[in-house]
This record gives sequence, C-alpha cells and structure tokens, in this order.
Amino acid sequence: MNVFGVDIGGSGIKGAPVDLDRGELVEPRHKVLTPHPAAPEPVADGVAEVVRHFGWSGPVGVTFPGVVTGSVIRTAANVDKSWIDVDAAELLHRRLGAPATVLNDADAAGVAEMAFGAGRGRKGTVMLLTLGTGIGSALFMDGRLVPNTELGHLELHGHEAEKRASTKVKEDEGLSWEHWARRVQKYLAHLEMLFSPELFILGGGVSRKADRFIPLLHHIRAEVVPAQLRNNAGIVGAAMTAAAGHG
Ligand code: BGC
Repeated sequence: MNVFGVDIGGSGIKGAPVDLDRGELVEPRHKVLTPHPAAPEPVADGVAEVVRHFGWSGPVGVTFPGVVTGSVIRTAANVDKSWIDVDAAELLHRRLGAPATVLNDADAAGVAEMAFGAGRGRKGTVMLLTLGTGIGSALFMDGRLVPNTELGHLELHGHEAEKRASTKVKEDEGLSWEHWARRVQKYLAHLEMLFSPELFILGGGVSRKADRFIPLLHHIRAEVVPAQLRNNAGIVGAAMTAAAGHG
C-alpha cells in the first residue's frame, strides 16, 4: 500500500508517495522552498504543490516542527507564530481536497526509524533526537510513541538545549566537531540522567556525518547510533501515521 508523506521543515517542504511495506519512497521526493514567513496559508500552498507534482489524490500525512495535539498546532519555535491554534489537518484537507494527518516532525522520524531503521525490533526506552535547525525528540517505550516530548527545549546550564547543540548553532557559531560534540554529550548525559534510555538514535541531516561526532561522545551508558532513514524518515513516518489513522 502507498500513502503520501510530506515533511515541513525550516528550509524545505519535501514529499513523495511512500511504500508502506518497505518504508521507502516510491519515487524521488519533490521539494519546494519553505515560504518566509512560514505562515499557514503559504505553507499549505507549498504542501499542495508537492502533492500535485505527483498527481496524488489520496490521504496525506504531514509533519510539523512543533507540538501537535489532535491536529491543532500548539507551538511554533522555528516557523511563523500564526500557526498556533490552527487546525492543520482541517486547513490541509481544505487545500488538498483529501484527508490529512498531522504530527510532530521528530515523532514522525521516530515512528519510521522504529519500524524500518535503527530502532527496528528494539524494546524498552528508546529516544530519537533530530539535530537540525532546532532539536526534536521522540520517545518510545516498547515501540509505542509518547508524543510531543519537546526535549530540545530542556534547559541545560541556563540555556535551551536546542540553542546550544543544534546543527544550526554549530554552523552559526562555527564550532569544530570536537566543540559541538562536547555540547551534544552534555545534553545526552542530562537526558540519560532523566530517562535512562537503552538507545539514543541521532537523526537530522548531520546523521550522514555520524562518524565525525558519534565516536567523540563519551561517558554515555546507552548505545548511541545514527538514524538510518536519513532525510526521508519524516516523510515515511508521516505516511505511516496517515495510513494508521485512515486504514
Ligand atoms: C520544536 C519541535 C521540533 C524540533 C525540530 C523544536 O524547536 O519545538 O517541535 O520537533 O524543533 O524541528
């Protein structure tokens, strides 16, 4: 079965039909630039453009980089604040003429990694972190998601973690791998103190360069591995969630 997945990010809106049996994109994804300001109507237009590119007319799963309860957006740390209190599924349904399911971007990535990637078959407490513009988190207990954990906003030494250890901060401050890895390590140690996960899965674009920083992370008891689905995890997880909701 195929369902369409879309990932709304700070720089791009990307999507493709997903083969749900294999957890893979059926065709190469299509991307449009995220409009600025990234307000609801222009972003919905961007999602519609991506979906239209494939001539898709069925259900669509969509990720959002903020808290999503039911289908209502509650926070918007890295997109336009006018999203807050918008029923995103309703907006997208109207715009696409097809049912839409909306969930947090890190939760979507986590759902895909647990089914098809680094978390496959893993029991106990597993935590996926997406290191990107912000830091997203997805927490699993025996494979079941605890949604909207928002651990990128955890305070660490008086700073929000995502303002210290995201890859955007690494770039903005020109940090070396060693310097940045020390910050990521402190963050993981703090999360470990609070949650004692068995496994950390590190995702986001930087997972492609895992060999540059994962070997620099010391004193973490949990296993630390890179995400495997790379930039497609959000798209795959969104499609899986849409299928679960409309199956
Ligand atoms: C948001 C999260 C999101 C993460 C990654 C954070 O700023 O609050 O909801 O998952 O960025 O996009």
